[in-house]
Amino acid sequence: MGFIIAVDGPAASGKGTIANVLAKDFGFPFLDTGLLYRAVGVRLLADHQDLDDGAAAEACARGLELSALERPEVRTRAAGEAASRVAVHAGVRAALLDLQKSFAAHEPGAVLDGRDIGTVITPHAQAKLFVTAAPEVRAERRWRQLNGQGEAVTYEEILADIRKRDERDSGRHSAPLAKAEDAVLLDTSEKTIDAAIDAARRIVEAARAKAGI
Ligand code: C5P
Repeated sequence: MGFIIAVDGPAASGKGTIANVLAKDFGFPFLDTGLLYRAVGVRLLADHQDLDDGAAAEACARGLELSALERPEVRTRAAGEAASRVAVHAGVRAALLDLQKSFAAHEPGAVLDGRDIGTVITPHAQAKLFVTAAPEVRAERRWRQLNGQGEAVTYEEILADIRKRDERDSGRHSAPLAKAEDAVLLDTSEKTIDAAIDAARRIVEAARAKAGI
């Protein structure tokens, strides 16, 4: 079995940046699993389908093509909101399961980030991080990112989005956002991105030493 690094956490916690750097460090492929849900949401919106229709969303997830993850639309604020609405459907999650599991099986290892990687997708991952930060800090980061992409949106709107998304992601029945018992908590609220990356590297190095690598 390869060495799996599972990085979970709420929106804009810094988990994507951290997961990307870890993947480069170790030369492992990286899957941002949020993009899967985003691509399903974007597709349904484009087809004027109801995001709350579980059967339609599941059919869309089953037909998902990986090229859809590359499209810029999946990075918008609307895509994030649509993603968290389609992600509540158990059928959607089931449809995306095999793809994520086979990605995780890459040798000599893989990095996945999301909400349920350490709990549901790869509970056997050797390194698990749960990256979080205060909602206000995450809102500020996401606001800067979206503004940089040219989206006109206020900090208050983003903070409201983040709070709503946290509630929906943590409160759903199917694979809610939760820290795996054996995940290491990394709070990035008061850390620069470099300090957060250093802390993440130390967590993974400790897990590799424990795995005898
Ligand atoms: O991480 P990102 O913000 O791109 O994720 C968008 C949404 O997709 C999340 O708010 C969550 O509802 C859903 N998601 C999920 N499980 C994952 C990754 C993302 O439910 N593993």
